[in-house]
Amino acid sequence: MNENFYITTAIDYVNGKAHIGHAFEKIITDVIYRHFKQRCDKTMFLTGTDEHGIKIQKTAKSLNISPMELCNQNVEAFQNSWKLLDINYDKFIRTTSHEHKEIVQKIFEKLLKQGDIYKHSYKGLYCNGCECFLNEKDLTEDGLCPNHLTKPEVVEEENYFFKLTKYKDAIINHIKSNPDFIIPSFRANEVLNQLENIEDISVSRSINNVSWGIPVLSDDSQIIYVWIDALSNYITALGYDPDKEEQNETFTTFWPASCQVIGKDILKFHSIYWIALLMALDLPLPKHILAHGWITIDETKMSKSLGNVLSPENILKSFELQKPDAFRYYISSCANCGKDGNYSDIDFKEKVNADLANNMGNLLNRSLNILVKYFDGEIKDEFIVEDEIIKTAKKTVNKVVENFDKFQVAEAAFEIMTLLNAANKYINDKAPWSLSKNGDLTQAGVVLYNVFEVMRYVSVLIYPYCPNIASNIAKQLKTNINIKLYDLDKNNIKAGKIITKDEITPVFLRLDSEFAQNKK
Ligand code: MSP
Repeated sequence: MNENFYITTAIDYVNGKAHIGHAFEKIITDVIYRHFKQRCDKTMFLTGTDEHGIKIQKTAKSLNISPMELCNQNVEAFQNSWKLLDINYDKFIRTTSHEHKEIVQKIFEKLLKQGDIYKHSYKGLYCNGCECFLNEKDLTEDGLCPNHLTKPEVVEEENYFFKLTKYKDAIINHIKSNPDFIIPSFRANEVLNQLENIEDISVSRSINNVSWGIPVLSDDSQIIYVWIDALSNYITALGYDPDKEEQNETFTTFWPASCQVIGKDILKFHSIYWIALLMALDLPLPKHILAHGWITIDETKMSKSLGNVLSPENILKSFELQKPDAFRYYISSCANCGKDGNYSDIDFKEKVNADLANNMGNLLNRSLNILVKYFDGEIKDEFIVEDEIIKTAKKTVNKVVENFDKFQVAEAAFEIMTLLNAANKYINDKAPWSLSKNGDLTQAGVVLYNVFEVMRYVSVLIYPYCPNIASNIAKQLKTNINIKLYDLDKNNIKAGKIITKDEITPVFLRLDSEFAQNKK
């Protein structure tokens, strides 16, 4: 595959810090991105922060600091979390940046000029948590927002409106004729139902009610609606300029996005509002929108009031983990594509001990030790004979690729573990330790070579999830981790000394059970 690959995440509100729900999204996006880097030449990963709106304005007020101070503090905290988790983005966009604000204003003016935006008096119910107007019928029996369980504010203003209804049929048509546009596909029906009752949307707020935002260029009594501001980040980050006939190279290389990763709660904004906006700007549509599920903790929704919000820092610290690999692996395996997932300490420990320490780490460790013990760490020419297990490894590459083509991150990880199970069975059945003791040295060497080859495949396949562990495996095997997937079968391990006794290190140490109890 040589296509260019552009992946984006939702941009996070900065009225708080990153928790493991935000981390889940950034990690699965990073895993997908690192996988496609192993297949494509030009790749781009965008993430960032959504810094305007009433929610940020109110939080800053309650803390007695300016909104900008609040944003700066929390943006730094978000960026630190992503660094800790080895999130390898190429660009981090802040909606308070000058470049972004200027383009959002130009986009608004363009739509105003072409008649897609018009002025209209309006009375509605606004939920500050969702940053959107709600219909009476969306509310709970007690008149509360179903997501935030708070009473929406009655807002009566003269606002600008976007002609969403004009694009309704085109959006329905696009969704119906592109069954893999919304992933997972069962979410497409939800969107089609929402489209049935769609109305034009308010895209500005009076500056008297919301001051923290981007002013409308031609009318400074109005602030651009935070979702129009936020959604535009995906193209402002590439340097899109609505006033230019020809766009710059970054934009033409990467737009339309290959995959836009977001949570199920904001699918409506991405599959309806964003798509209509792109249609109005006459821009091509993203190829896929991946709506992931939500992460709960011990099967309970995370919430400040319950006091169960967990940060990625909490988890790494309580298990004394220097590197994020185990958490990255666990969280990206905990939910099948689009489904909700759950974090629990016990589950985390059991899963990474079983998969990373036993299935993967032990297999490598014991095989290398046998190689040192009987062959002084050297692969001999006569060991290089491919057994069936290498065919299984090659098939696994195809299965992993097929899963990533559908953005099935957990399912792909499962295939890698299945290969490791097969390799463990292979070594146990062949028992190279007995073969060596009984003098069948060549046969023992062949088994070891096959196991190392499988581990070479595994190192590259697991790299997107566990970049540090994968690099450590490759280092011990003296193989190349920075290799395209289609070059894997041309780079097999060659004859020669690969390791000495003191170079053998465990790639992942079992998590000690007492760490989990020290938590919180
Ligand atoms: N700022 C908007 C997105 C604008 S995108 C143009 C927003 N921000 S958010 O901070 O509330 O959420 C950011 C992302 O984190 C969303 O995709 C959301 O679904 C995701 N998650 C927030 N809590 C989550 C979990 N508990 N679990 C998984 N993802 C969750 O929405």
